[in-house]
Amino acid sequence: MAAMTTTTTGDDARDEDTRSGGPVDSPFVRACRRRPVPHTPVWFMRQAGRSLPEYREIRANVAMLESCRRPELVTEITLQPVRRHGVDAAILFSDIVVPVAAAGVDLDIVPGTGPVVAEPVRTLPDVERIRPITRDDVSYVDEAVRLLVAELGDTPLIGFAGAPFTLASYLVEGGPSRTHAKTKALMYGQPELWHALCRRLAEVTLEFLRVQVAAGVSVVQLFDSWAGALSEADYRRFVLPHSAAVLAGLADAGVPRIHFGVGTGELLGAMGEAGADVVGVDWRTPLDVATRRIGPDKAVQGNLDPCVLLAPWPVVEGEVRRILEQGRAAPGHVFNLGHGVLPETDPDVLTRVVALVHELSAQPTDRG
Ligand code: CP3
Repeated sequence: MAAMTTTTTGDDARDEDTRSGGPVDSPFVRACRRRPVPHTPVWFMRQAGRSLPEYREIRANVAMLESCRRPELVTEITLQPVRRHGVDAAILFSDIVVPVAAAGVDLDIVPGTGPVVAEPVRTLPDVERIRPITRDDVSYVDEAVRLLVAELGDTPLIGFAGAPFTLASYLVEGGPSRTHAKTKALMYGQPELWHALCRRLAEVTLEFLRVQVAAGVSVVQLFDSWAGALSEADYRRFVLPHSAAVLAGLADAGVPRIHFGVGTGELLGAMGEAGADVVGVDWRTPLDVATRRIGPDKAVQGNLDPCVLLAPWPVVEGEVRRILEQGRAAPGHVFNLGHGVLPETDPDVLTRVVALVHELSAQPTDRG
């Protein structure tokens, strides 16, 4: 590693950061920036969550939204998978609807269902009631990030937010939806209202991410989990400009940006164009194919089917090997799942995957 810490190519201002070591010189941040790495970094979406007994225990008597507003609890939950699995990054424990609730929307996270909104968005006054947020509206997030950065040392912390389309889907449907029918009806039928809603959500999301960056996160991930419900043409027309506004608003923030969605095989190029440094890929598109669609200048992340972790170990190992091989087609590769860890996953399998990824991808310089 030591030989690599002074690498500065001067191609952008962010190169300055890499001289200092610490999280900015970690394998994860380096992979996001398409720089040489000692091993392929690995983390798991939803690594902090119900697959861990220590998580279930600490959350036993605390509601989900409430737990996101307690910095000490957020810190402990965020650290649990780092301690247990030795993953290359932590991700802030929170939820995509946290900033929307801070913006004044009456919502709850219902166990086993997900986010439920009391008064779904139907009109322009509904949109205008979503207030722009400031740091003070999410001071508990600012505090949690600061506590975490102090605890994590060289391990980078990922900040995140939901993208305008995925947030809009919860707000318009009033809860989770399989078809996103009400959302699409509003989008096609009242495009001006749709764009007003997405503009407001983009503002809230950008501020939420800026707070996290100011508090010290090393990377941000924009989750557009449900964008795969759209055709490429509709994505480009109704969604891309708003996600691009969020990502462009962070262009000078000095942190790599990951952009992820599920079922987005047809959207990978467009999601990269929205302004990402790293594009997240679900289990449907192999990473070499994804790289051809995204282009040669972005890193990729993902692709292991979360359900594979429920299969016997030789199956898991075969898939890890396949993904590491196909990930070599990209200029940077972050090992991850194609979506979040399922609650029924055996955490020991996750620990073994981390060790296997590190072992199989170790570069000779790692020992020198
Ligand atoms: O996973 C867990 O058990 C942790 C606790 C939890 C979170 N959100 C944390 C979270 C729970 C119970 C929720 C509720 C929720 N919110 C659900 C799940 C409903 C259920 O009971 O299964 C959903 C789908 C949401 C909405 C949401 N939150 C989306 C669409 C996303 C983006 C990521 C994705 O899964 O598509 C989130 C982000 C989220 N929720 C994170 C965490 C810790 C951050 C991302 C991560 O850790 O990878």
